[in-house]
Amino acid sequence: MKRQDLHAAWLPPAAFRSVGSRHTVVHGDGPLLDTVLAELREAAGRYGGTVRHGDGAEPVDLVLALSAVPAESGGTGDEGFVLARRDGVTTLLADAPAGLLHGLFHVVRLGEPAFTGERPAEHHRPALHRRIVDDWDNVDVHPVMGQVERGYAGGSIVWRDGALREDLSRVAGYARLLACCGINGLVVNNVNVHASEAHLLTDRLGEVAAVAGLLRPYGIRIHLSVNFASPVQLGGLPTADPLDERVREWWAHTTRGVYETIPDFGGYLVKADSEGQPGPFAYGRTHADGANMLADALAPFGGVVHWRAFVYNHRQDWRDRGTDRARAAYDHFVPLDGEFRDNAVLQVKHGPLDFQTREPVSPVITAMPRTRVAVELQATQEYTGQQRHVCYLAPMWRTVLGFRPWGEDRPDVAQVAAGGGLVGVSNVGDDPYWTGHPLAQANLYAFGRLAWDPTLDPAAILDEWIELTFRPDDTADPQTLRRTLHELMDGSWQTYEQYTAPLGVGFMVSPGSHYGPSVDGYEYSPWGTYHFADRDGIGVDRTRATGTGYTGQYPAPWSDIYESPDTCPDELLLFFHHVPYHHVLHSGRTVIQHIYDTHFEGARRTERMRELWRDLPAGLVDPALYARVSERLDEQVRSAHEWRDQINTYFLRKSGVPDAHGRRIY
Ligand code: GCU
Repeated sequence: MKRQDLHAAWLPPAAFRSVGSRHTVVHGDGPLLDTVLAELREAAGRYGGTVRHGDGAEPVDLVLALSAVPAESGGTGDEGFVLARRDGVTTLLADAPAGLLHGLFHVVRLGEPAFTGERPAEHHRPALHRRIVDDWDNVDVHPVMGQVERGYAGGSIVWRDGALREDLSRVAGYARLLACCGINGLVVNNVNVHASEAHLLTDRLGEVAAVAGLLRPYGIRIHLSVNFASPVQLGGLPTADPLDERVREWWAHTTRGVYETIPDFGGYLVKADSEGQPGPFAYGRTHADGANMLADALAPFGGVVHWRAFVYNHRQDWRDRGTDRARAAYDHFVPLDGEFRDNAVLQVKHGPLDFQTREPVSPVITAMPRTRVAVELQATQEYTGQQRHVCYLAPMWRTVLGFRPWGEDRPDVAQVAAGGGLVGVSNVGDDPYWTGHPLAQANLYAFGRLAWDPTLDPAAILDEWIELTFRPDDTADPQTLRRTLHELMDGSWQTYEQYTAPLGVGFMVSPGSHYGPSVDGYEYSPWGTYHFADRDGIGVDRTRATGTGYTGQYPAPWSDIYESPDTCPDELLLFFHHVPYHHVLHSGRTVIQHIYDTHFEGARRTERMRELWRDLPAGLVDPALYARVSERLDEQVRSAHEWRDQINTYFLRKSGVPDAHGRRIY
């Protein structure tokens, strides 16, 4: 029996069997074409095919050609390709080398069907130009956050013990995996730029260049998180004021140095005036002043600054009911619309708070028509089970990307993000399975695929990932393997939502670690994340009529839909409204009964997930992988029960309302 090599994630050698057993010819030259040829030759060496570079007379099954695609068809752009099959020959055409690389991975994904029947020409082009993964890696092991901030898969694949790893083969493997799902940019270090990491910009730039060299063959450009105070920290200047000439000159010449070393450098990422990071506020300047200074330094070289909109007061007094963290990004940034340079991208978390299991779409995304906006998603499962729980996030992301802020027939979030890009916080580490929980790999894969095509169906993406990764057809029972993985993963986000914080209220997690329940953990903290549960009700009043006015940050029709509990979607009710426990949801249940029911149901579903995995016939997956998933499912079941019991007990005690079904609550 053939076992999957999960360490290869979604690119095990067997994924190349169909391609590798064919006779292939490649026309064209260039560094990315060398990568295409190397991939094809490796596969052919393994599976008996042949690969020819350039003309010849022998018959072929697959042609990859760099050649101008007829202009009347719109061309393929920098990264697109045309796939067709006629008279027994499959053809990939692209205007640019990156198109052939993406096309090759597409053919790999298709497997045998790429080589059967006829196929009319299909045009593939990424919907978003910038498809970037943000690693939150530190060079040093941070005393609180560890080496990878919010990392749940071990240490960094780039650094170890404060220095660049000698063996960077995992980085090369990462580049391949990322390219295969469509990623073309990587930010190599954490948004919180500590002392050592700040030096990556100057005297440690060689380390960045080394990583860039491994990404380049896969069409991925490197980006760097930089510290706004670098002119002071690294340059010895007395100020980092973005309007000070010395500061501007420091950034200009430092950036020139970066491009001398890394000519295809992508640009900077900045977290400023946020959670203790320095920023322009210290000098009485705006965030547009800060971003534009860096944009100007990058512009001569075609670079871009990604400037994060995650700016809020993290030292809030919980007694202060007037301050609403959800409002903060909009209040800071929307007045600056139109002031940002063209090569400045405002990077906005998809929700107004912080990657909760359920949040509305950030209104900032809707309110800056004269600014390039990138949407940031989080593949690392900080608030969604930390890669101990199965939580397939593509359905959540699809909901976000397909949301139409201005109503039907108007652009969706993905279309707005096309101006700036889609960014995903990575979930990998030096764990042999890359992501701790082997099934969490699917989140990174799905992120890339959605960035390429935001309209893809999450279940179809999962199919692709399962076929590539697990090779079901190489096992004794492909259907059972496929069905089990789908049953475990398809609805796992919803399951996770059921047993954690209810109805969009968010948080209720253990402070600091963010793992496991702690209903009041953040209730009297300075972080601005409260649920306001008392004996009568729960939720945050964010209405214009009586609350913080946050609903007014949305355009019509959502500003009104969210304003009234009668029209607000159930799953976001407590995000927008403070309601009594006996408030009746659209589902027909009261809020308190919904809390009880969903928590019993969610915990029960995790038991069912574990049973499904236990019932998987032996030999369908690698034993070590099987054991890893089993151990994680045990923890998920334990944790889901803990969530269920703490949440239900808390609300029974607060409300005094018994469960209508008389189930056990403590
Ligand atoms: C969250 C997370 C932090 C991270 C921050 C950010 O608050 O807990 O670890 O630094 O997001 O996105 O900047």
